[in-house]
Parts: sequence; structure tokens; C-alpha cells
Amino acid sequence: MIIDGVLLAAGSGTRMRSPVPKVLSPVLGAPLLSYPYRALVRLHERVGAVHVVVPPGGLPGDRPLEAPGSVSPLYVVQERPDGTFGACEAVISSSAFLSGSSTHLLVLNGDGPLVDETLLESLVSLGEDRPGALVLTTAHLDDPTGYGRILRDPSGRVFAIREESAASASEKAIGEVNAGIYLIPRPILLEAAGRIAPDPRKGERYLTDLVARVVAQAGEVLTLSVSPEAMRGVNTQEELSLVTAVLRERINRLHMGRGVTLQDPLRTDIGPEVEIGPGTVILPQSFLEGRTRVGSSCRIGLGVHLLDTEVGDGAVLRDYVVASSAVIGPKAVVGPFAHLRPGTELGLEVHIGNFVETKKAVLGPGAKANHLSYLGDVTVGARTNIGAGTITCNYDGYEKFETVIGEDVFVGSDTQLVAPLIVGDGAVIAAGSTVVADLPPGALYLTRPSPELRPEGALRYHERRRERRKKNKRKESP
Ligand code: UD1
Ligand code: CA
Repeated sequence: MIIDGVLLAAGSGTRMRSPVPKVLSPVLGAPLLSYPYRALVRLHERVGAVHVVVPPGGLPGDRPLEAPGSVSPLYVVQERPDGTFGACEAVISSSAFLSGSSTHLLVLNGDGPLVDETLLESLVSLGEDRPGALVLTTAHLDDPTGYGRILRDPSGRVFAIREESAASASEKAIGEVNAGIYLIPRPILLEAAGRIAPDPRKGERYLTDLVARVVAQAGEVLTLSVSPEAMRGVNTQEELSLVTAVLRERINRLHMGRGVTLQDPLRTDIGPEVEIGPGTVILPQSFLEGRTRVGSSCRIGLGVHLLDTEVGDGAVLRDYVVASSAVIGPKAVVGPFAHLRPGTELGLEVHIGNFVETKKAVLGPGAKANHLSYLGDVTVGARTNIGAGTITCNYDGYEKFETVIGEDVFVGSDTQLVAPLIVGDGAVIAAGSTVVADLPPGALYLTRPSPELRPEGALRYHERRRERRKKNKRKESP
């Protein structure tokens, strides 16, 4: 048995009332579609290829589905959104499918993110026992409204699926519904191609009509019963929030099982690709998404948001740290209220304090920038101290320039480093300096205008101010 996976993702999703295509709706930072995709890829020993059916023009975004494993998605365009059978036809007429040798298609709705690989494995093993059969998944729902109903004859054999729009009152009362996950033998699909008529009401060609066709030809239709939760689809924003809650719980439980402490798992969002080491403690309202990897025994404070960020063992991220595409070294201490932008690389035991923003900033081991700074396009050597209020002036309104600061440098508070600039090892820059030219190693640099001290000058200053104010008031009143 050789299986190709198929994800149906070309529908318009009008019930979401959003300009974002439904299958790209974000769930814990990952597109909705990536969840069933991941379930398929996890069957990788059995699934040769995954075809993703998309609307003309494809799905927006440069990489809507990043491949977590060795299977990359094969995008197939469905020229017209003429129904779920139309979507499967697009697959079976694609060159990737025709040149492949799969015996079965494992078809999943792209809007069902709660399907897991255990369910898919059961479906596949049923198919292995009966390779010629069309295998459906069904669930019993208290409220089956909107789903295709499973019609069975008196002996219990399935003979059709009836969509909501075509169902009679008695059919609508049936609680067993089509879960939207199918294992279909290749010959069944090839035979039906071009032969499924559009539904007269909606004009769509339904994949579910395949069932009646197979039955009419004395073929075998089997069903696998699944839980109502596993099949939950997303058609509205409210349903999107419901599946998000289920996935949040699943993912968080997994991390807790691996020794991660989540102070409040209901208020912690962790994306499906995120890795976290044991002994790490995460406070509420944090959001770890994308390819974020957190080491062991780290502490993640309140409201920390990490995207595609790597955090070394034992690092401490205090409250309200925001980081994207950054690397935070082992035992680094960051925040509270720090903003690490792409290209930030903090070495071992680096300290970044409150209201510090970094961008393309590489800080060597033990370097510190503890207060109120902007560090952009900069390299900072080991043990260098960046004083409060230091700014790298990296932009002249046209181009960006780099600053290179050596090891063991002391940058005094309120310094402006005007790039391009090189500061040699061991240099000392006095507070309040504006540095516009390179400093050799070991240099001391000061920017000090000659100071002026006027004893009691402040008194005279205030007198003058008061007199001027009086004069102005007299002018105003008639
Ligand atoms: C579908 C099933 C229904 C089942 C339900 C389970 C059909 C006709 N009906 O209904 O029996 O109970 O799923 O959730 O299949 N899509 C395309 N191209 C299209 C139309 C849809 O790729 O032309 C994709 C959509 O993006 C979506 C999936 O197919 O991911 C299902 O489409 P949707 O319109 O949501 O079908 P339902 O009405 O939910
Ligand atoms: Ca649906």
C-alpha cells in the first residue's frame, strides 16, 4: 500500500468573514492548515507525497507550509472552487500524482486541525485489511447541523452521504456525520473522474457523492468511527477559537509531561513547532511561536513573546521581553521590557536590561547593556559595558552603517556612536560623548564643552522669567 496524502485547501471559507484565507487562519502562530499537514507528515513512513490543493494564485505568504519533516508539500491548483470532488480531480490530473505509484489517497479537509496521527494510522490499517474499499470516518454529534449525514440501509451498510443542503427533515435528524477524512483507492477516484455531477443547488461537485457511486457499482464502503473532537472543523471565527483552545491544551500538556512548568497553561500559548527543555518555568501570558527553541532550566517571565528565537540553557527572560529571530545565549539575563529584533545574538551571560532595543546586534560573552539603549548593526566584544542611554546612530537617512566595539570597552552613559565606527579593545568613552571617528585600543575619549559656572545664576534666571511673564499679562488685559 503506497499512500499519497491530500489536503483540501482551495475553498473560499466565506463563513469566516475575513480577508485571510480560512486555511491560513492563525492557530497558536501557525496556519490552520499546518495542523492536518503535520498529522500527515508524521505518518511519513507510509505517506510518499502530500498534495495540497490551493486556489488559483496559491496561498499568500512565502512559505505557508514549512515542512517539519522530509515530505515537502506539492501544491496543486484547483482552477475553479467547484467542490471537494473538483479538488480531488485536480490532484489526480496533476503530473506529480500521475508519475507516482500510490495505491491510495488519504484525503483530509484542510480546515480540520484536530485530527491526529493515531486516527490516521487506524484509518490506514483498516485500508490495509481491505485494500479495495473506500474508507470513511464518521462521528456522532449532538448537533449535526452543517455536516454531511451518513445514510445507512436497514442492515447498517452505508449507501450515501447527504449534505445538509440536500437533506430531508428525517435525514437532518441523523446524528452520524461525515468527519471529512477519507482513504480512497486510486482506481475508485480514476473511475469517477469527470463523472460526478454538480449538486443542483450549489453547483459544486461533492467528494461525498463518491459513496453512492461506489455502492452502485457494488464496491465496498467501510467506516471508522472517530471522536467528535477529532473531526471538529473550522467554518467560523468562534470555531477557530474553540479548536485553538483544544490545541493549546494538547500542546501544553505535552510540554508539562516533558518537565516544563507552566504556571497557568490556560494562559500560555505555545506553537506546534516550539521545543522547550526540562526545568524551564514559564509565567502566564507568554506566547512562544514559530521555530522557537528554549533550553532547559530557563525562566520565562510574564508576557514574553518569542518568535523563531533560540534561548540557551539557564537563560532568564524577565517580564515583557519581545524577541524575533534572535539568539539568546546560555545564562543570559534579558528584560524586563526589552526588544530583541532579528539578527540579535547574545552570547553567554550577556545582560540586556529594561528599555533596550537590539537589531543585528552581536554581543560577546558577559557584555552588558542594562538600561535604555538602541543597539543596531553592531558587534560588541566580550565583557564590554554599554552605559545607560547609549545609541548606535546607524542610519543617516539613506543607508545603514556598522559599529564594531571591541572587548572590555567601557561606554559611558548617554553616548552616541555615529557609524561607521570602530572602537578598539579596552577603550573608555566618557559619559555624554558623541563619537564620530574610530578609537584605537586603550584610548580614552571625552566630549566635554568647556563648562561655565555662574554662582547664583539660577536666581537671576528665575527673576527674569517672572518679570517677562508679568509684562505679558499686562499686555493681554485691556
Ligand atoms: C465537508 C463535507 C461534509 C463533512 C464536512 C466535515 C463535502 C461536500 N462535504 O463539508 O460531508 O461533514 O466537510 O468537516 O465534502 N475545498 C476545496 N475546494 C472546493 C471546496 C472546498 O479545496 O472547491 C476544501 C476547503 O478549503 C475545506 C474542505 O475542502 O478545507 C472542506 O470544504 P468545506 O466547504 O468546509 O466543506 P463542508 O461544508 O464543511
Ligand atoms: Ca468545513
